[in-house]
Amino acid sequence: MNEDRSLAGAIALVTGAASGIGLATAQALARSGAIVWLVDRDEERLAAAVASCEGGAQPVAWHLDVTSETGWSALFAAIDERHGRLDILVNNAGLAHFQPLAQTSLADWRTSLAVNGDSVFLGTRTMLPLLARHPARAERSTSAIINVSSVRAMIGGANFASYCAAKGAVRMFTKAVALECAALGERIRVNSVHPGFIDTPLARAALDPEALARRVSAIPLQRGGTAEEVAAAILFLASEASSYMTGAELVVDGGTLAG
Ligand code: NAI
Repeated sequence: MNEDRSLAGAIALVTGAASGIGLATAQALARSGAIVWLVDRDEERLAAAVASCEGGAQPVAWHLDVTSETGWSALFAAIDERHGRLDILVNNAGLAHFQPLAQTSLADWRTSLAVNGDSVFLGTRTMLPLLARHPARAERSTSAIINVSSVRAMIGGANFASYCAAKGAVRMFTKAVALECAALGERIRVNSVHPGFIDTPLARAALDPEALARRVSAIPLQRGGTAEEVAAAILFLASEASSYMTGAELVVDGGTLAG
């Protein structure tokens, strides 16, 4: 049991919380005392995810396709009614299209940009008014948005064109919104996290076993990361320990980008 209760009382929302990095993040936020809204389109796994969160504050399951503008508006209304504010937004939901460009249809491209990109735009724009209402408490002077991008926002990858394009958009969107919030005097910090290869259902589905083995052997630390290791970086950006960070990118990749 994690004894760090530094986020006690904070209201947090995590998208893609039914699996992988989002699930580990929701669990870590809950252990730190936050009231977590777990958001996903997979209702069945969402119920199990909520049940797995320990920490005292009652977590909430919310079924949403993160590409739906009206869906986001309904979620805004529910959080506004229940809490009147939001302290932490983690835009994590995503999917990876691993396919040659010649076989990528316009529909595939649009799905990749919608799930990985539109979702971050919609989540951020919709929730900004609630994030701006965080209480001026000594223990929490800012609210935080953390967008889960990828190392694929910095380096390309064969057969990953639509994914690279979408994650690159998330990286620069993060910086632009960070500056906009700062210029408006909003105490909302906006940062991005860039995982390398993390052993989750998404990563396993995107690569065949041979490609997977090649990928792992090329990582300087000689292993894939865990969802919990990415969650730890997200927790840092969500907490006051990172109070002077905004518009920054935090890479969690076992050394992949260092070479
Ligand atoms: P995952 O597949 O384990 O979890 C993704 C979750 O997002 C699932 O629960 C899924 O139901 C949900 N989701 C997908 N589309 C949705 C939609 N339209 N509406 C609502 N929920 C939706 O994947 P993982 O690996 O945990 O990925 C999380 C994030 O991390 C993604 O943005 C991914 O691109 C990013 N990432 C993952 C890496 C990896 O190696 N696993 C590397 C770099 C980035």
